[in-house]
Amino acid sequence: MLIRSKQAGELTEAQVTDESVYRNRRQLLKQMGFVGLGGLLANPSQAGVWSWLGDDKPEASLPERAALSYQPASPISDPLTSESKVLSYNNFYEFGLDKADPQQNARNFRADPWRLQLSGLVEKPIELGFEDLFNFPLEERIYRLRCVEAWSMVIPWVGFPLSALLAKAGINSSAKYVAFETLYDPKQMPGQSSRMFGGGIRYPYVEGLRLDEAMHPLTILAVGVYGKALPPQNGAPIRLVVPWKYGFKSIKSIVGIRLQSSQPETTWNRAAADEYGFYANVNPQVDHPRWSQAQERRITKGGLGSDSRIATQLFNGYGAEVAGLYSGMDLRRYF
Ligand code: MTE
Repeated sequence: MLIRSKQAGELTEAQVTDESVYRNRRQLLKQMGFVGLGGLLANPSQAGVWSWLGDDKPEASLPERAALSYQPASPISDPLTSESKVLSYNNFYEFGLDKADPQQNARNFRADPWRLQLSGLVEKPIELGFEDLFNFPLEERIYRLRCVEAWSMVIPWVGFPLSALLAKAGINSSAKYVAFETLYDPKQMPGQSSRMFGGGIRYPYVEGLRLDEAMHPLTILAVGVYGKALPPQNGAPIRLVVPWKYGFKSIKSIVGIRLQSSQPETTWNRAAADEYGFYANVNPQVDHPRWSQAQERRITKGGLGSDSRIATQLFNGYGAEVAGLYSGMDLRRYF
């Protein structure tokens, strides 16, 4: 990942370049493997720019997904993002860098059979197969998802609290952190072996939480979305959802969960520590070095004029539930 910062006030590339030209340049950089989270790296406000242009390809027809039984959520006041948008506008670099790539390139991804291992500082390591993932009491959770790239969605996930799984294994008192790992299978995930496809980050994708964050009741493992099993592009068969943190913490297609005493390495922190912190709590007062985090583009159904620009909320609006986890912490330092 190439990193360069610019002085505030410099014109963005979109302001000085014809759109088709800069899209072509983006393509070229991508082929060279020089694209990171947020898109074109030489542009300080790129997250917003790409988002505003709606970098979309036509939506393909949706594949069949298994219906799930779950306890429905009470509605929230934010309008839901349409199912077709949730399933077609994705970040999943293992399947390509454009938002439309994962839906296209993950079509034949095989999530069954699956093996999820829970290990490390636990009393009893656990291994779950595909069917086991759906054997927890499932509940719907309607959460805002705020991407570090300054766009957001409102998504009805189906899943279960991560704490329910951790409790089954029994947590050893020396465990302080939880590390997560995505499947490593370059045959199925072309981005893992190609800089052009996968942006040049190190794979497998890894993430981590402090143990108290992992045990928080808002933190879930999702196995479904919109009432049906997750499609590959959203992280089938099982992914993390931590709604008060930037979306990159919500790691997809998890095969490993490990309890440990030290803070785990995380993919984006390792790629650019000054841009992506371990905590990654949504915070409108702490800007990304290359763009503001004060506002976000709320995606409802996509398409010209349907999205709105709204103020970003501290902890993505979940402060009443989670602020206590960080009392006394300097959120600028631990960003
Ligand atoms: N997990 C893996 N393994 N690979 C990724 O590229 N992208 C992250 C996160 N989880 C990513 C990932 C980012 S940046 C975001 S915003 C969310 O997934 C997007 O989730 P969605 O596509 O289901 O909306």
